[in-house]
Amino acid sequence: MAKQNAFYEMFVDLLKDMFDAENQIVEHLPQVIQACANPELKEALAQHLDETKNQVQRLKKIFKMLNENPTGKPCKAMQGLFEEGQEELNKKDVPSSVKDACLIVCCQKIEHYEIASYGSARALARHLNNAGLSERVDFDEIADILQQSLDEESAADEKLTDIAEGGFFTEGVNDAAEQAQESKAARGSKRNL
Ligand SMILES: [Fe+2]
Repeated sequence: MAKQNAFYEMFVDLLKDMFDAENQIVEHLPQVIQACANPELKEALAQHLDETKNQVQRLKKIFKMLNENPTGKPCKAMQGLFEEGQEELNKKDVPSSVKDACLIVCCQKIEHYEIASYGSARALARHLNNAGLSERVDFDEIADILQQSLDEESAADEKLTDIAEGGFFTEGVNDAAEQAQESKAARGSKRNL
């Protein structure tokens, strides 16, 4: 039926990419949560982990509606984003506030990838509905389901911005400046011995 349409193929590919991306998040986010020091950040990411598990279920529902298989397209972008995150997690001797700030940056890059993907998928679903590609598939309903996940991603992104800008970055920068000041003073007192 709809399979001959190149836009439909692109749409299914995009959903497969998202399915793999969301599963990577379910797999790796617990490690990120464990590495965070800030309780507010931990809580926000834990809440988003629950939402992500729900998003996987939503995608499964969409694949069922389309009668398509969700697997078969690894999301290389998400693999790369998590590799970058792993580099931050592996860093030694980094103040916890700086490590948390790095993790916020990594998580927001992930959120923005998801926002772009869900936004595009929703737009394609609306197009496919208007194109009257299938009598059996309600693409408008699929667009609404995608919108729910898009809203959650946007809210999660805003929450991270609030945490970062609500004093977190300022505190981190001040802590780092204080530590630099202390180690400079320690070096100075050693020289005076
Ligand atoms: Fe997600």
